[in-house]
Amino acid sequence: MCGIVGYIGTRNATPITLEGIKRLEYRGYDSSGLAIIDAEGNLKIHKKPGKIIELERTLPSPEKIYGTVGIAHTRWATHGEPTEVNSHPHTCCHHKLALVHNGIIENYRNLRKKLESENHIFVSDTDTEALVHLIEHFANKTDNLTQAVQEALKLVEGTYGIALISSDHPDQLIAARKGSPLILGIGENEFFITSDVSAIIIHTKKVIYLQDNEIVTLNRDSFKITTLENEAVNAKISVVDWDVSSIDKGEFKHFMLKEIFEQPVSVENAFRGRLFPNLSTVRLGGLNMTGEELRRIQRLQIVACGTSWHSALIGKYLIETLARIPVEVEYASEYRYRNPIIPPETVVIFISQSGETADTLAAMREAQAKGARALGITNVVGSTIARESDGGVYIHAGTEIGVASTKAFTSQVTILSMIAVLLGRMNNLSPTFGASYIKEIQKLPEKIQQILDTNDKIMEIAKTIIDAKNALYLGRGVNFPVALEGALKLKEISYIHAEGYPAAEMKHGPIALIDAKMPVVAIAPDDMIYDKIISNLQEVKARNGRIISIATEGDKRIAENSESVIYVPKTIYTLQPILTVIPLQLLAYYVANLRGLDVDQPRNLAKSVTVE
Ligand code: F6R
Repeated sequence: MCGIVGYIGTRNATPITLEGIKRLEYRGYDSSGLAIIDAEGNLKIHKKPGKIIELERTLPSPEKIYGTVGIAHTRWATHGEPTEVNSHPHTCCHHKLALVHNGIIENYRNLRKKLESENHIFVSDTDTEALVHLIEHFANKTDNLTQAVQEALKLVEGTYGIALISSDHPDQLIAARKGSPLILGIGENEFFITSDVSAIIIHTKKVIYLQDNEIVTLNRDSFKITTLENEAVNAKISVVDWDVSSIDKGEFKHFMLKEIFEQPVSVENAFRGRLFPNLSTVRLGGLNMTGEELRRIQRLQIVACGTSWHSALIGKYLIETLARIPVEVEYASEYRYRNPIIPPETVVIFISQSGETADTLAAMREAQAKGARALGITNVVGSTIARESDGGVYIHAGTEIGVASTKAFTSQVTILSMIAVLLGRMNNLSPTFGASYIKEIQKLPEKIQQILDTNDKIMEIAKTIIDAKNALYLGRGVNFPVALEGALKLKEISYIHAEGYPAAEMKHGPIALIDAKMPVVAIAPDDMIYDKIISNLQEVKARNGRIISIATEGDKRIAENSESVIYVPKTIYTLQPILTVIPLQLLAYYVANLRGLDVDQPRNLAKSVTVE
């Protein structure tokens, strides 16, 4: 969601923190701000509603805001509109402290009331302002800034990743986390704080992932991590193993388009080194489960949000078909509050690109509290779900910056197909089928590339629907979740209302919507339910509906029922979603781009939803 960057060292903090939050802008982009302690020891705060460019435009020249300790923030509003006064950093009554915060202070109303009764003056509608005044309250009683922050945080209910500077302590930067990611970057004579490693990767690859309830005090030449109770923490330094080229747009106009085009490689990265065609199986060592433990699994639950939830639905098809193990799929936001029943020998899989989604994380903790084994399928190495799960699989898709998830989806489904083969081979999947399935997984990158090569045609088709107000996506079986995903892609970046439906359900209601203005996107590859979906399309056509079909190469019949057809190569039924989703991603992209919209930063959205 929001993004935090902090710096303490020998260089000017302003450009470093500003560049840093620009790299995090995809996480929240309704307002931004920065604070530094200048050479005279004064606290300087600048903030602006709108994108970071608005802040940059109004900043004085770098010499005028020179300081070697600073913090910056890009915001996705939770409490209070995205106005200048509600933007971060927030300050206290005496303008000595500046605080940036990700997360939600749930008891901020009570804290604010109490502090106002002690004559603290509030100016914003935010929860964060209560925390900076609370820290001021304790800082008035001690010279030890760390202690003041510790005392304040002990009274906070909710989640936070924070960074704080003080003009009374110009050689310190304090940061702490609970439920919102925060990372310490260790450079040469300088330190960084960030909510996402991509903001600081150009400066250092040496990082410490802070844990919940930890607080770090950065001095100019040293750092100390403690708990809120001031117990020293011996943290592990990790080295980030990717570089800055993976977070550049390169020749592409948008990150989303770049990420769509990366899929031949990202899918290959998901299976590389994990497939063993000679043994007709796969190996996923990160699951941390013995063969015997895997064989004992009686039931799976898969829990996720958004696009990851769509891949979970496909996972159900895959695992039930190949391994004959029953799978339930749940929205994380429902699971966590529903007191879920987790029978013995059940494993719960949590899918999250970011590994930080608040609902998915809370659902995982709930499952673990009930004694279940929790496995994570995540992209971000070192993310909270990756660290707190009992085992899991990284999808290795590379950083996904476009707010609309694309490559993470195909990689998640690739991993789920491998889990299905693994469990299937331990149950009743034959070696012959296991081997042919693995071979087909290996062919996916090439087949994805073939679809990407039809990109120009998909752009032409997009032109025909840019003025649509609504769209319907139909699919059956394993392609029903693909219909949901295609509709989600279109609505989130083009703002055209779109719904995904199981094709046969259409006649039970949505058929009433069909007219000559309504595009219907039908996912109709050549499989055992092809004839059924053709019947559904004839029902649409009979009502003058406009049909865009996704069909298997060589299918001539589909054209009779469609205004346009996008062809995908043939593959095994349960692997189809990895191919059929690609044209839908491109279609959504081109519609949004042709409508002149900000594809990478659609309105109201943010990457990685770390609040409830
Ligand atoms: C849609 C999208 C979201 C995310 C959802 C879960 O394009 O990106 O629906 O899929 O917020 O995010 P993760 O996978 O990070 O838990």
